[in-house]
Amino acid sequence: MTEHVDLLIHSAGQLCLVPPHDGPQRGAALGDLGLIADGALAVADGRVVAAGPSAALRARFRATQTIDAAGRCVLPGFVDPHTHLPWQGDRAAEFEQRLAGATYMEIMAAGGGIMSTVRQTRRATVAELVEANRPRLARMLRHGTTSAEAKTGYGLDTAAELKQLDAIMALGDSQPVELTPTFLPAHAVPEEYRGDTEGYVRYLLEDTLPAGAAWMRARGIVLFCDVFCEDGAFDLDQTRRILEAATALGYRLKVHADEFVGLGGTKLAVELGAVSADHLVRTPEADIIALGRGDTVAVGLPGTPFGLAHHDYTPAKAILAAGGALALATDLNPGTTWCESMPMVIALACRYMGLTQAQAVVAATLNAAWAIGRGHDVGSLTPGFQADAIILGVADYRQLGYRYGTNLVETVIKRGQVVV
Ligand code: NIG
Ligand code: FE
Repeated sequence: MTEHVDLLIHSAGQLCLVPPHDGPQRGAALGDLGLIADGALAVADGRVVAAGPSAALRARFRATQTIDAAGRCVLPGFVDPHTHLPWQGDRAAEFEQRLAGATYMEIMAAGGGIMSTVRQTRRATVAELVEANRPRLARMLRHGTTSAEAKTGYGLDTAAELKQLDAIMALGDSQPVELTPTFLPAHAVPEEYRGDTEGYVRYLLEDTLPAGAAWMRARGIVLFCDVFCEDGAFDLDQTRRILEAATALGYRLKVHADEFVGLGGTKLAVELGAVSADHLVRTPEADIIALGRGDTVAVGLPGTPFGLAHHDYTPAKAILAAGGALALATDLNPGTTWCESMPMVIALACRYMGLTQAQAVVAATLNAAWAIGRGHDVGSLTPGFQADAIILGVADYRQLGYRYGTNLVETVIKRGQVVV
């Protein structure tokens, strides 16, 4: 007796399930693709019903829609767990200044950098933010991203931060890439508080964080709260106070740590039970050990040092040797790395973080889903998971990472629907 399903993808040269390991794939176990040759995937009601050899699934299922994936590779859709969408405007002129020798932190200290995007984002309406950011999401989708995180952090006052949250919700509702919102009013110290970081921290604790908490309660969702723990932004003690207040208000936690200077933000993230610690370039040894012992996912963003023309990258091998869970993300933002492409991130991670293609693929799917608290639902094609899949125009997943600068993603499926 045949069972009916909505979609059957069959005859894939390779089907990569990316199975969970009772959680993310950690340490030396990273890179288990669960590869099935001549594989098939059955989907009903937006979820994976079965995955296995084509012959078996074709005998078992009759489908409304059938895709012959011969000569192609089927993978879970990419999850991009760290983006700074939505923002207004661009900073091409600052990139030109950097090419002439100015550093990112010098430009920021002179009132440019994040603050120049803040000025433009504050002036934009929700509708304008949606219009400016939808094409960016469309490019992400075409490069295989089916779920992503999106941060505020270009408002830096309560009303403008809530406006960015509204824009994230509107963007999530109006195109296929599913968005997980993060509240990042602690991204920089705004002009109004220049030289008075403590004053801004007080404002965050008394006004902005409670307002964000009310916003999320009204919508029945849980936001992440993130802090840029860095010289020139928030120091370790300020980061701790903001994150502790956020926990008390019901947020889950993320931290921007060790992008330029290792201040102990990663160890703090582990101590406070943060879901992820991100950037991790200048991460001290003790913090790497802490990642191996805790549940905080380490998110490497190799597009950022590449975008800044820096030479140091996340020490992925040390994090894996310590037993840590490693994920990858774009960090998509107008300052350090305007890159919508997870395949580009995979290519960089293979070269500069020393990952194999299989490790990078898992870090960009299953482990990335864990980095936004969605590891039970997306990032794998194991039965029961949401049917978010991509089909590459090549038969071997190892073409990912190896090739770059052109898009190998041919078909994108979100909740069982072909969207590209
Ligand atoms: O993650 N480091 C802080 N935030 C961003 C850059 C934001 C910007 O320059 O606009 C980052 O790299
Ligand atoms: Fe970032």
